[in-house]
Amino acid sequence: MTDLVRLSFSIEKPLHDRLEDMVHRLHYENRSEFIRDLIRSRLVEEEWEGNQEAVATITLVYKHHARGLSDKLMDLQHHHCRNILAVTHVHLDEHRCAEAIMVRGRANAIREIAGLLQQQKGVLHAAVSMSTTGKRIT
Ligand code: NI
Repeated sequence: MTDLVRLSFSIEKPLHDRLEDMVHRLHYENRSEFIRDLIRSRLVEEEWEGNQEAVATITLVYKHHARGLSDKLMDLQHHHCRNILAVTHVHLDEHRCAEAIMVRGRANAIREIAGLLQQQKGVLHAAVSMSTTGKRIT
């Protein structure tokens, strides 16, 4: 287990009240755990800003019947197979599909893959959930 360091710092009363409100509203057991998570979130943002190795999920929603789209999306995924860890496909209804594509690689490579998938005609929406390998945030 990592050594714990006890901190003491001052913040404005309104900010403190908002902090307490968030800790309570989000059901954190204590303030420390909430602040740890805030710091980790910021560190992950910095990993993405610095083009570090990252983990992400790309979620796509697309039209199942769009001409050639399924093949095109599959071709792109094969081309980037070194970055793709897993894919889950869901048939949303008669006409629409969703895919959750779990990827790992440099942040810019992940952004590029997401962009290529998103710009295909018939893709209705693409979202990237940016996460981390976890190596730098313990
Ligand atoms: Ni489908």
